[in-house]
Amino acid sequence: MSFETLLTERRDRVAIITLNRPQALNALNSTVMRELRQLLGELEADAGIGAVVLTGSEKAFAAGADIKEMQSLDFVDAYTGGFIGGWDEVAGFRKPIIAAVSGFALGGGCELAMMCDFIIASKTAKFGQPEITLGIIPGMGGSQRLTRAVGKAKAMDLCLTGRMMDAVEAESAGLVARLVEPERLLDEAVEAATKIAAFSLPSVLMAKEAVNRAFEQTLTEGLRSERRLFHALFATEDQKEGMAAFVEKRKPVFRNR
Ligand code: CAA
Repeated sequence: MSFETLLTERRDRVAIITLNRPQALNALNSTVMRELRQLLGELEADAGIGAVVLTGSEKAFAAGADIKEMQSLDFVDAYTGGFIGGWDEVAGFRKPIIAAVSGFALGGGCELAMMCDFIIASKTAKFGQPEITLGIIPGMGGSQRLTRAVGKAKAMDLCLTGRMMDAVEAESAGLVARLVEPERLLDEAVEAATKIAAFSLPSVLMAKEAVNRAFEQTLTEGLRSERRLFHALFATEDQKEGMAAFVEKRKPVFRNR
């Protein structure tokens, strides 16, 4: 399958998706959104894929929603057409997805990285929500996910001033899970994805679901749903295999059942 705005590669059970609009610093237009949704739909259904890495170029993960595409949009078209609503499907992707970020992750680019499960960043990465400089505000979750990731003080600072945060600040603020040298970025992300993809898929999906619920529920409800998911995993063959392997001092062979 070939795409106009994406490059794809498979390494064993890991799919690598590279945003590929170098002439526009990977600005996220409707073609990127349509192609990414289609590809993620296929990867979700593909039993041979256990995790995904989403990356961009050395200069830009993505410099935001495509300003040239948005420039002439009016309210009625944006509202009735549900403009950019399709990105929610990326956040709803059920398998683990890691953002490997180098260079600019601005506006929709920062928001896309935050839709992923965690961010591994190169020391060159720069994050920001500069929408305010264009007379708008974040529209793909920036005001919500950034605030949950880094807290009100920094989220307000970034959303109100439009300033960029470098990779060191982003890591210390809790937006970035791992910071690596630029030349290590893709390998680090693929190694993490490969490790995840080797675990039992039901437990991986439930771990993702459980952590995500922490953002949606009260502590009591979250603890209750975690317990239900935990109990449910005792119905899997992989739980028996994982624990038997530990007791027998061997490596488990998970069958994703
Ligand atoms: N949309 C469309 N085109 C973009 C773009 C964007 N978000 N970001 C960069 N480009 C294009 C530029 O127009 C330029 O194209 P041309 O050569 O045809 O003029 C090309 O990419 C290279 O960009 P620059 O020459 O500007 O590169 P630079 O290195 O001088 O600056 C930058 C890099 C600081 C990232 C600068 O490009 C920039 O500020 N980009 C816009 C960032 C931004 O405001 N993002 C938020 C968008 S709104 C949004 O995302 C809404 C939302 O929440 C959903």
